[in-house]
Amino acid sequence: MIELRSISKRFPDGTVGLDNIDLSIPKGSVFGIIGRSGAGKSTLLRLINGLERPTSGEVIVDDVSLSTLSRPGLRALQRRIGMIFQSFGLLANRTIAGNVALPLELAGVGKAERAARVAELLARVGISDKADVYPSRLSGGQRQRVGIARALATRPDILLCDEATSALDPETTRSVLALLADLNREMGLTIVLITHEMAVVRAICDRVAVLDQGRLVEVGPVDSVFAGSREQATLALLGEVG
Ligand SMILES: Nc1ncnc2c1ncn2[C@@H]1O[C@H](COP(=O)(O)OP(=O)(O)O)[C@@H](O)[C@H]1O
Ligand SMILES: [Mg+2]
Repeated sequence: MIELRSISKRFPDGTVGLDNIDLSIPKGSVFGIIGRSGAGKSTLLRLINGLERPTSGEVIVDDVSLSTLSRPGLRALQRRIGMIFQSFGLLANRTIAGNVALPLELAGVGKAERAARVAELLARVGISDKADVYPSRLSGGQRQRVGIARALATRPDILLCDEATSALDPETTRSVLALLADLNREMGLTIVLITHEMAVVRAICDRVAVLDQGRLVEVGPVDSVFAGSREQATLALLGEVG
């Protein structure tokens, strides 16, 4: 459902973010992208939701090339793609309910429908009791649950996760990953998950792609990539070589 064809990204200062990437991400999969810091992972995610444009190549979502979309067309596509971050990105001066309601307000959803949808989302991520408090009162795990609820507000079918559990302790990470796995199963949500933590990939991904210095090193089912890799970059991430 998501296809990158010969994608390269060069920044105005000459930095090469991505170098000739070809990648297919199947609908309904939990797809991991790993690589050390600076490998191009976040750049790749921002290309998928159209926040960034490739220097060359095409990003295709459900057979539509992003480069052919008008601004309103791109905005409509972006409502189908949710995103969560390491830093959660919550607004400090809005309550939890207010944070989750924001994308619905921007989409012009009426007040009553908004309230009902927010209540449903908070229940789904298990923090209904936090609706009226402010983000500063929540733990990291709870904040990421708010981030997930907000990302799902407009009923996306794709969720992009950029180091979404990297600020969380191992136990909280497991509970957030379990929630993501449930959402994948229940809603058929396609999840593209960036991480530098191999345990995260092992826990929930079907397939994994390894990036190194902007290049795609290898891609395949998690078990075969982790068990059978001969690539230096992959082995280094797995901690099997210096
Ligand atoms: N806006 C930008 N301008 C210049 N260089 C950038 C910009 N964004 C990212 N880069 C560079 O592109 C490379 C990939 O960055 P990024 O995608 O953030 O990597 P990762 O998420 O894997 O850590 C890095 O060398 C980074 O410094
Ligand atoms: Mg990054």
